[in-house]
Amino acid sequence: MTEQNDVSQTYTMGYSEEFRQLLNRRSLETHARHLIPHLKPGMRVLDFGCGPGTMTVGLAKAVEPGEVHGIDIEESQVDLARSAAGAGGHSNVHFDVGDVTDLPFEDNFFDVAHCHAVLMHVPDTAKTLAEVKRVLKPGGVISSREVIVASCFLEPGHEDTVEAWGTFGRLLAGNGGHPQMGKELKQAFLDAGFTGIRTTASFDSFGGADDVAFLHKFICDWFFSPQVAAVITNYGLATEEKLAEWRAAIDAWKDMAGAFGALAFGEAVAMKP
Ligand SMILES: C[S@@+](CC[C@H](N)C(=O)[O-])C[C@H]1O[C@@H](n2cnc3c(N)ncnc32)[C@H](O)[C@@H]1O
Repeated sequence: MTEQNDVSQTYTMGYSEEFRQLLNRRSLETHARHLIPHLKPGMRVLDFGCGPGTMTVGLAKAVEPGEVHGIDIEESQVDLARSAAGAGGHSNVHFDVGDVTDLPFEDNFFDVAHCHAVLMHVPDTAKTLAEVKRVLKPGGVISSREVIVASCFLEPGHEDTVEAWGTFGRLLAGNGGHPQMGKELKQAFLDAGFTGIRTTASFDSFGGADDVAFLHKFICDWFFSPQVAAVITNYGLATEEKLAEWRAAIDAWKDMAGAFGALAFGEAVAMKP
């Protein structure tokens, strides 16, 4: 685990190289297919919680000559996102450090506000959605894709790997997050006063040998890192012995001929009336 993995009280994943490798696999086409039909050239788009910007650059391309603003609370991610946009030659995208519960934009500014794997981490969903709604134009579109931890799996299944997934969910909740946000999006959007809500669900699949090896390495380097393990044991979610048992089960899973894993997500797209 690299030194940058400082798991905080509120943002579970931290900013390690290991987690960045997972984010680097994401793109607009693969991870926000639900949003693509709503994007048109000339639109002004917000990507809140943009991370290293791998999806933001896709948004920039999709709405050219419109503009995209990426916001993230963490400066190191904004720096990475600026580099990604520079390398891709995207001059219509701007990145700033900012908090999604207090956005540095005027009312009715954006045509579209998108996020991916962000609402699951921000404690106050109602406050976040109210703030995003404020900066959307009437008729503007909100879009989110969030994890459903209860539906993530490693097959062939084993009680230890199931227990480990459950503990990841409790870790997220302990940090103020929402482990099942992917299936709660429809209700959250309704409560926030959005209309025309469309909800779907999908998986990020790890079936081929390379993908299984990637997922196994990611779980070991992140979940079983000394830093994350320390948070888990400090919260009383598992003992070191339990973690060692789960690690052994996940090592065994990787070598199974039928090894197949998936992260489950829910998506929702809606409109500001
Ligand atoms: C799991 S990452 C997702 C990054 C990107 N959207 C993606 O899917 O590739 C979540 C991001 O949300 C950011 N974040 C967490 N809380 C935030 C807040 N209150 N305001 C803005 N960004 C926040 C984190 O810094 C992190 O970069």
